[in-house]
Formats: sequence, structure tokens, C-alpha cells
Amino acid sequence: MDNLNSINIPTSEPARQQYFMDRCHEFIEDFINKNGKAPTFYVSTFGCQMNARDSEKLTGILERIGYQEADKEDNADFVIFNTCTVRENANQKLYGHLGSLKKRKESGKLMLIGICGCMMQQPEIVDHIREKYSFVDIVFGTFNFYKLAELLYSRLSGSVKQVIEVLNAPEINVENLPERKKYNFKSGVNIMYGCNNFCTYCIVPYVRGRERSRTPEDIFEEVQKLAGEGYVEIMLLGQNVNSYGVNFLEDSDIIKNNPDYSFPDLLEDICKIDGIKRVRFMTSHPKDLSDKLIDVIARNPKIAKHLHLPVQSGSTKVLKAMNRRYTKEDYLALVDRIKAKLPDISLTTDIMVGFPGETEEDLQDTIDVVRKVGYDQAFTFIYSVRTGTPAAKMEQLPAEVVNERFSRLLEVVREVSAEASARFEGQTKEVLVENVNDHMEGYVTGRMDNNILVHFPGDNSLIGTFVNVKLDKAHGFYYTGTMVE
Ligand code: 5AD
Ligand code: SF4
Repeated sequence: MDNLNSINIPTSEPARQQYFMDRCHEFIEDFINKNGKAPTFYVSTFGCQMNARDSEKLTGILERIGYQEADKEDNADFVIFNTCTVRENANQKLYGHLGSLKKRKESGKLMLIGICGCMMQQPEIVDHIREKYSFVDIVFGTFNFYKLAELLYSRLSGSVKQVIEVLNAPEINVENLPERKKYNFKSGVNIMYGCNNFCTYCIVPYVRGRERSRTPEDIFEEVQKLAGEGYVEIMLLGQNVNSYGVNFLEDSDIIKNNPDYSFPDLLEDICKIDGIKRVRFMTSHPKDLSDKLIDVIARNPKIAKHLHLPVQSGSTKVLKAMNRRYTKEDYLALVDRIKAKLPDISLTTDIMVGFPGETEEDLQDTIDVVRKVGYDQAFTFIYSVRTGTPAAKMEQLPAEVVNERFSRLLEVVREVSAEASARFEGQTKEVLVENVNDHMEGYVTGRMDNNILVHFPGDNSLIGTFVNVKLDKAHGFYYTGTMVE
């Protein structure tokens, strides 16, 4: 950054980033003078809710700089990929996209490419991008995504063609950045970052770092602000919300006065905020889900009756090798306790097939759990080797065996979830209307508190409101219905 007068640059965040947003804006003004319009951007997000939340901040920063959002990647002057690396096919997707963007970049139609997110936290991948994809302009990771404007400025103002900055661990936590949300009535709110569980297959603790909880004060302030802006539904986000409060980022008076303050307390306090009508959360690690949490969900009508409770495998032996720290019996007993107090609850899960050492008997245990729990929805994955995780060093199963098991599991999951999610047919449920349905003319789509979607006749004036809908017909993962008074 040779042409910067360092005396003027704020040293504290987020003021420093605001400064760089303003400096980047000067380039946008030049562009507008030459082209008669603002340059456009497109943020392509892979992976989980955490990345989706980070992308809202990237979008906010780009709009503050003066970029306008393009309707699709093909039309954008600046494309950013916020990557996922939880499975190998997520990596392949990125390389596929980059390959197809190279020609557009060479022809001068596409000006800038940025890559960030979990995949960039792996040094060998960054080396690969440096060597094979030198046309990528900016590379950054999960711990410094808030620096987008600073890195962009350094690319635009300097002579370096590729700006790379990836940190190994979080240095500071920067909140209060500009952001632009997808919806103006529901929002995710991070309550914690990172994960300490080190499941032996999982790369998340390595690319998102150790667990850090935000203070209740910080979270309340954010939710109060959202409520003031008219948001009605909040989704509390963390890799394992049930260990909220184990490691705090900063001092908190609430915690000083009540050292046992934990996730159920936070949930109840969030529900007390005026204007918030529905509260969701994810994800719950089964080993940490307390009876106190079940009681809080049962007694508080604002809390969505839905639990995403990843089981991963139904075999106690496999669960042990995965370092999940519960047995098949523990999991089933937990589900029984949940259903006893919350008979209408929707349970969803993640399941993995083909973990090293898995036998046919282990698969049968998984199928048994699927049938006993009766999940409304189950996300099924083929185990994918992640370099650097303990399971990568274990003996791997042949792909054909795993693929065949996966197909069988999928069949059971489809049958069970179609049956389970149809159990509300004929009932009337309150839904939050999310959007106009693109495929069914004259219909809108709403979400019940158990996370299941309903399509019903309506128009865009309903978006963001709660309405009662009679569930006329179940279609597997969704219903069609009619609005009632
Ligand atoms: N291979 C396949 N699936 C994985 N998941 C996490 N790591 C892997 C892996 N190495 C799945 C888990 C997790 C979900 C988000 O992704 O099921 O719950
Ligand atoms: Fe990965 Fe396990 Fe942490 Fe979930 S709990 S993010 S599966 S290490």
C-alpha cells in the first residue's frame, strides 16, 4: 500500500475498514465516470448458515463501497466465492467455477475475483490457487473476512496482482460492519464462533477455530436492533449452541452475576425482546442437549418446535470412532425425553455413511435409529476424507460398498421422512410467509415453526407476516394449503 499516508489510517476496527471502504469508493467513482454506471458484484455462497451470515456482511461492505449487486454471477464485474470445505465435492465445485471464469476474466469482461471462507484456511489450497489460478485477485480466510475493503484497496491501488491474507486463528472479533440481509423480516444471529468438539472426520475446528461465545449483552443489542427494524424471526447460530458460554470473548456483567448462565437462559431472554415472535437455533450436539433446554422449549411458545440433532451414525462403535461422545442408546433416550415433553416436535438430522470401519451391521444400526426417531428430514452424506483430520489416517472403505449403502439409507430416509412430515395433514398451522412462489403462479411460500414449508394461494403483501394456513396435502418435504382467518 505504497501510496497511503499511514498517519490517516485508523488503527481500531471497524473504523479502519470504514476508512478503506471510503478509499475503495474513489475507484468506483472513476468507474462511473468512465462507464456511466456502477460496477456490479455477485457473492456466491457455499456451505452452511455461518457462511451465509458472513456473506451478508461481505455484501454490506461491497454496497457501502458503491458496488451494485448483479442478478447472477455471469453478469458481475466482481465475483466473490465464499467457500466451504466440509466435503471434498465442495472443493471441486470451486475449481469448476474458477475454470469457467478464467475466459471471462481474460476477455476483460470480468474485472475481479475474490475467494474467501473455510477452504482458504488450508495452506495447501492457497498454494494451489497461487500456482494454478494466478488470475484470482484476492484471497482471504474465515478470520479476516471483515477486511474485504482493506484487501480490495490494496489490490486496486497497488502493483500486486494477487493479494493473499489468511490468518491461522482469530486476532480480534469485529462486529458492527455494514451488512445486507436476504430477508427483512428474519435474520441469523451468531451467538458463538468455532467448535471444540473435534469429531474425527470434521475439518470445522481447524478452519473455524476454537469455540468463542459472544456475550449475552452483545447478542441482546443486536437482536434489539433487528426487532426495532421490524425483524420478527431470529435464528441463533453456532456450530454447537448447547455449549454456549463455555468460552466468552469479552467480559460480561450478566455472566459475572450468574456464572451458570447457559444457552437455555439466553434463549428465554431473547424471547423477551419486544417484537421478536419466533426464535430458532442450530446446531445442537446431542451430547450437550440438556433437560433444561427441553423444558424451556416446551414452556415458551416463541421457540420454534424444531430440533436439528445430527446423529451421524446409529452405531455405538462408529460413534466412538467418530469421537461423538454418545452411544446409540444415549441418543434414543434423549429423543424419548424430547418427545415426552414436546410431542409435536420436528426432528431433523445429519447422517454420514462410509466412515472408516463401518460394517453392514453398523449401517443397520443407523437405519434402526432413522426408523425409531422418525425424522421429518435427514441430510445424508457420504463420508469424505479431510486431510489433517484423525479419520483421514484410518483405513478407508471401498467406494462401491459405500455408494450401495448410501442408496439403501436414502431410500429408508425418504420413506420415513415422507411419513413423518405428513402427520400434520388437515391441521391448521401458523406460518411466516417468506416469498412469492416462483414455480406456482399466484402462490406464496411460508414456513411453519417446525421448519416445514407450505405453498398456498396469496400475494407479496403477505411476505414477512404470520398467517394461519390449513395444510391440505403433504408432498414429502412440503405441504400445499389454504389460508384461513
Ligand atoms: N464427510 C462427510 N460429511 C461430513 N460432515 C462433516 N464432515 C464430513 C465429512 N468429512 C457432515 C456432518 C455434519 C454436516 C454439516 O456435514 O454430517 O453434521
Ligand atoms: Fe464438526 Fe463435530 Fe464440531 Fe459439528 S460438532 S462442527 S461435526 S467437529
